[in-house]
Amino acid sequence: MTAIKHYLQFSDLTAAEYAYIFERAALIKKKFKAYEKHQPLADRTLAMIFEKASTRTRVSFEAGMYQLGGSVVHLTTDGSQLGRAEPIEDSAKVISRMVDLVMIRTFEQTKIERFAEHSRVPVINGLTNEFHPCQILADIFTYIEHRGSIAGKTVAWVGDGNNMANTWLQASEILGFAVHVSTPTGYEVDQDIAGLRSTDSYKVFKDPMQACAGADLVTTDVWTSMGFEAENEARKTAFADWRVDEDMMRAAKPDALFMHCLPAHRGEEVEAAVIDGPQSVVWEEAENRMHVQKALMEYLLLGKLI
Ligand code: CP
Ligand code: NVA
Repeated sequence: MTAIKHYLQFSDLTAAEYAYIFERAALIKKKFKAYEKHQPLADRTLAMIFEKASTRTRVSFEAGMYQLGGSVVHLTTDGSQLGRAEPIEDSAKVISRMVDLVMIRTFEQTKIERFAEHSRVPVINGLTNEFHPCQILADIFTYIEHRGSIAGKTVAWVGDGNNMANTWLQASEILGFAVHVSTPTGYEVDQDIAGLRSTDSYKVFKDPMQACAGADLVTTDVWTSMGFEAENEARKTAFADWRVDEDMMRAAKPDALFMHCLPAHRGEEVEAAVIDGPQSVVWEEAENRMHVQKALMEYLLLGKLI
C-alpha cells in the first residue's frame, strides 16, 4: 500500500508537486469559468471539521468539492462529539472509514497531526495556530497569475509572526524566494515552530518600512488571530506601527502587489486606501482558494493526471 499523502503544512509537498498543482489549478479555473464540467471526484466525500470560524475556507472547500462531483459533510466542535471530548484518534478512525478526504481547521498543529496519524484517508490543514498552507497555495498561485514565477522575488511580511507568516517562510524555502519580515517585539517568528531548515530565505527588519523597501509583494494579516482574542487590547498597542499604509506601498516596487488572506480590519493592520487600492489583489486571492484546493484535492486522491 502506498503511503497516504496528507497536506498538514506547506513543506509536505515538493517544488515539482507545486508546479503540477499550479498548472492543474489554472486548467480547473479555466474550465470553471467556461462552465465546463470537471468531475474527477464523483462519489467521493470530503469531511470538513471546523473548530474555529470560517467564511472562505468553508465556502471554497464546499463549493469546490461539489464542483468536482463529490459531496461534503460539515462538522463543528459544538455540533459533534469532538466538543464532548471524544479522543481525536477515535474521531479520526471513525470519520476516515466513511469519507475519502478530511479537511480540518483547529488549534494546535499537534491535533491535526494526531488525526492524520490515525486517518485512513488524506487530511488537509484548513488552518491551525501554526500554519495556513491552503491560503499560501492560493496566494502564490495569485502571484504567478499576475507576475509569473515567484522564484527570486521578495515578499514583505508586516505584522504578527503567526500561522500565515510561518507558512510564507516555509514556502520561501521550497519555492526559492525571499521574505522580509517585520513584527513588533514579542511577536517574532519562531524558526522551530515555523519548521524552517535555516535562516537563508528570510531577513528580519525592525522597521516595517525597511521590510517593504523594494518588495515585489507586501502582505499582512490581522493583529489578533483566532484563539488569541484575550490578547486583543495589548496587541492593538503593540502593533500600532505595523499598519500597511500607502507610504509602505510606495517603498515597495512600483508594480508590487498587496495581499491579505482576509478577513481584514481596515484602519488596523491595513489602511482602506491600500486594501481597496489598485495594487490590491485580495478578491482574486480569495477566489483562488477554491481553484487551488480543487487541484489539491484531486492530486491527493488521484495523483498526477497529466
Ligand atoms: N482566509 C481564510 O482562511 O478565511 P476564513 O477564515 O474566512 O476561512
Ligand atoms: N491568522 C488568522 C488567519 C485567518 C484566516 C487567524 O489565524 O485567525
